[in-house]
Amino acid sequence: MKTKEFTDTAKAMMAGDKGLLAMDESTPTCNKRFAAVGIPQTEEYRRAYRDLIVTTPRLNTCISGAILSDETIRQQTIAGIPFAKALHNNGIIPGIKVDLGAKDLAGFPEEKITEGLDLLRERLTEYYALGARFAKWRAVITIGKDIPTSGCMEANMHALARYAALCQEAGIVPIVEPEVLMDGSHTLEQCKKITQDGLLMLFSQLHSQRVDLHGVILKPNMILPGKDSPVQVEDDIIAHATIKCLLRCVPASVPGVAFLSGGQSPEQASSRLNAIHIIVPTLPWAVTFSYARAIQQPALELWAGKEENVAAAQKVLFHRADCNRLARKGKYSEAMEKV
Ligand code: 13P
Repeated sequence: MKTKEFTDTAKAMMAGDKGLLAMDESTPTCNKRFAAVGIPQTEEYRRAYRDLIVTTPRLNTCISGAILSDETIRQQTIAGIPFAKALHNNGIIPGIKVDLGAKDLAGFPEEKITEGLDLLRERLTEYYALGARFAKWRAVITIGKDIPTSGCMEANMHALARYAALCQEAGIVPIVEPEVLMDGSHTLEQCKKITQDGLLMLFSQLHSQRVDLHGVILKPNMILPGKDSPVQVEDDIIAHATIKCLLRCVPASVPGVAFLSGGQSPEQASSRLNAIHIIVPTLPWAVTFSYARAIQQPALELWAGKEENVAAAQKVLFHRADCNRLARKGKYSEAMEKV
């Protein structure tokens, strides 16, 4: 077991005041986001967009690791450097999304199971050779009428634990992401209860599968009301509920918690991470970000697929990453959005 390797990587991912950048959208998801802003949905445009992100000046001052997709880890910058190598040369640890997406769970209408365990050992060996030192697997939990069921939760948490064990065997840090979706009109209390049940189940499964918690990063949702809920709440209520839930469920041996943004606006994602750090400056684990949309969206819109917009889009991308770096220290403020 390459224990020292993956525990060292996990520490490096969580070090200082940096966070993670998720740029691992699958081809269909990336195409959907391109289509929404009128960017052609071709392999070259996806490559050019990832090139823009990876070559953003000073990105390494805010970002410790970047999660790539299978397509991107096989592509190169315009200068001919494989993306994983370009990140590594810049002091950013390359990671890889290894799940194959959430599919309908047989017998459980409206619920999903994340697939990708078949041949995962072999795929991890290849990704390691391509430079990946951490991985990500996302399970999707939907809150709705009579869901989630315990059958769906158990199947997903078990799959996350099987994935995590295989990653550690390969010397790769598993990011475990049991996302409770913001979609729906549920209350913050419902989100808290479901997230808590899910996390307790997840850590029990990780224990059963002999996963070493010192080499795992948790990527959870914050505790939020559903986006269609009539009752929306202040950031400090979200921060309190989120901390309370994590303290109940996440063992202190876990080196880090890195939130997903999940559809929050970029400003909300920064401001709520900031609120968490203001309320409890010292937590048992490093607490940071692993955002995709909340870092990328303004830059994607500004780029719009045009070469002449690359530098401006990189500035906007850096700004969002830097706001989140400051939020990790409780030093973000709304005033920073006016520059
Ligand atoms: P968002 O921050 O856009 O939720 O994406 C994070 C992620 O990696 C989803 O799996």
